[in-house]
Amino acid sequence: MQDKLENYSLSLKHLAVVMDGNGRWAQERGLPRNLGHEQGVESLKNLVRNCTEMGIGFLTVFAFSSENWARSKSEINFLMTLFVRTINNELTKLDNQGVRLTFVGDKYGLPKSLINTMNVSETKTRSNKGLKLNICFNYGGKWDIVQGIKNLIKNDPDLLKNYNSLTEEIFSKHLSLSESPSPDLFIRTGGEKRLSNFLLWDLAYTELYFTDTFWPDFNENHLKMAVDFYYSRKRKFGGTSETNNLIETPEEKRQVVKCGN
Ligand code: FPP
Repeated sequence: MQDKLENYSLSLKHLAVVMDGNGRWAQERGLPRNLGHEQGVESLKNLVRNCTEMGIGFLTVFAFSSENWARSKSEINFLMTLFVRTINNELTKLDNQGVRLTFVGDKYGLPKSLINTMNVSETKTRSNKGLKLNICFNYGGKWDIVQGIKNLIKNDPDLLKNYNSLTEEIFSKHLSLSESPSPDLFIRTGGEKRLSNFLLWDLAYTELYFTDTFWPDFNENHLKMAVDFYYSRKRKFGGTSETNNLIETPEEKRQVVKCGN
């Protein structure tokens, strides 16, 4: 157990991001909100490239929440069109970079063109071995837990009679991110300090980083600052530094990461 915790604490394998502040970025410049979303796509493209270069294996981004349906019809339509256009435009490049794309969330009721784009890109990149990019779309952490319960009952009905055997590990296999390790670092841009129903189960022990920078301004330097914050943390997972035998200084952690542990 100790070995596992030690290794896990030393490298940044999984980054989760709430890309907030697109609208305010545009409004501050007297531009329509939609231009903020367009610019947000550029930040996301840069982030994907930077994660690949930094050797981060998993990136999960919140692109559209279950609650985003409360926006104006025209903004929702714009976002749907932007997602389809971006994924269609970027798919070949992402595939060449070895990115494996997965869409996470409730596909029920989404426009057919979007579902088709999601399916095509998931199939095309399925066997890629590079960055696993989870795009959360029509996603909510509470939705994920409920669909996990439904999934569990559907796939393992005997468990209902034998419910005492249910463990966190068994249950987590039925959640949307079961094929990704828990996020090590969560970043939220745009100044708000809340999770907004993102990955409620998965973020239990994640280091949380909030920045006032609006998402369209988020660049490689901002990412480095967040990563430095991560490496300055002591991850104890409920234990103590002594019991977890953690390597303490950021420099020591980086050395171990560079050695590939
Ligand atoms: C939140 O900012 C951002 C969104 C709801 C959309 C995020 C989407 C992208 C960056 C494009 C991603 C593209 C793909 C293909 C996945 P906000 O509009 O709520 O900002 P505000 O708080 O300033 O209003």
